[in-house]
Amino acid sequence: MFPSDRPRRLRHHPVLRDLVRETSLSVRDLILPLFVRPGKGIKKEIASMPGNYQLSVDCLVDEVGKARDLGIKAFVLFGIPAHKDATGSSATTDDGIVQQALRGLRQAHKDVLLITDECFCEYTDHGHCGVLTEYGRRKDVDNDATLPLLAKQCVSHARAGADMVAPSGMLDGMVGAIRKGLDEAGFTWLPILSYAAKYASAFYGPFRDAAESPPQFGDRSGYQMDPANSDEALREVALDLAEGADIVMVKPAMAYLDIIRRVKDRFGVPVAAYNVSGEFAMVKAAAMKGWIDERKVALEILTGIKRAGADMILTYFAMDAARWLA
Ligand code: PBG
Repeated sequence: MFPSDRPRRLRHHPVLRDLVRETSLSVRDLILPLFVRPGKGIKKEIASMPGNYQLSVDCLVDEVGKARDLGIKAFVLFGIPAHKDATGSSATTDDGIVQQALRGLRQAHKDVLLITDECFCEYTDHGHCGVLTEYGRRKDVDNDATLPLLAKQCVSHARAGADMVAPSGMLDGMVGAIRKGLDEAGFTWLPILSYAAKYASAFYGPFRDAAESPPQFGDRSGYQMDPANSDEALREVALDLAEGADIVMVKPAMAYLDIIRRVKDRFGVPVAAYNVSGEFAMVKAAAMKGWIDERKVALEILTGIKRAGADMILTYFAMDAARWLA
């Protein structure tokens, strides 16, 4: 009770503030997303994501080297293939773009963790996250027909050198199908980071430019979650854990901090949060206008995501944050 209780006493001295700080952000918490495309010598900046690029494999190897020098050791790879078709067939071939990237990176950088995004939206000509079917008069992703393709994609990535697979398509049973596929191929040790609670979010806009993956009709509401739902996220996470997910992700992060906290409290498992492209682009744009202090705002956001309960954060700020935290 006042005046004996004065919380401000712990705020006077900066060293004391350091001692009582509850959340710490480290470069070890960060995972950098990277986009790889065919070609040589290509480093094409993504307009809405300054400092992020579409990279050919040789440039990707250099970029990972730079990030590694800053202390970033975990990466998630997205592929932009040369050809798209109805089934996303270039996603599952052993000479696919992500498979090539994995082989290149594996040779050049032995100690990094290579995570692969497992989805078909970058590989299909219609831009949806799997093969299509008609449900009544509505066209949407054929859940069960896509599952074996997803397992095939993961096994192919594992063979090319992936350390962990991260399915992002929000299909029912995807984790179980992938676990079975990996186990049968001998990858019993290879973990699955499931995009377990992924929302149908407008914050993915810049990413879809970066990955050239926008849906050509409709939206993703038939598989990704309704932003209004929270109990449903717990159900999604419970199902994925039951199917063998090793880490569960909440995505996006900033408008979903309550979901991160609920998942952490309820399940107590490793939780990842994806600080997505639109969240990054908003900060960059405001900073470029001189309206906010980019460094302070970005670190506050990342700290907030950790404080909410995330153990690791996928973020396009990883390189900047690594410099700021050094
Ligand atoms: C692929 C995928 C998306 C993102 C990650 N994996 C796009 C989508 O679902 O449309 C978004 C990442 C971001 O916005 O940074 N399914």
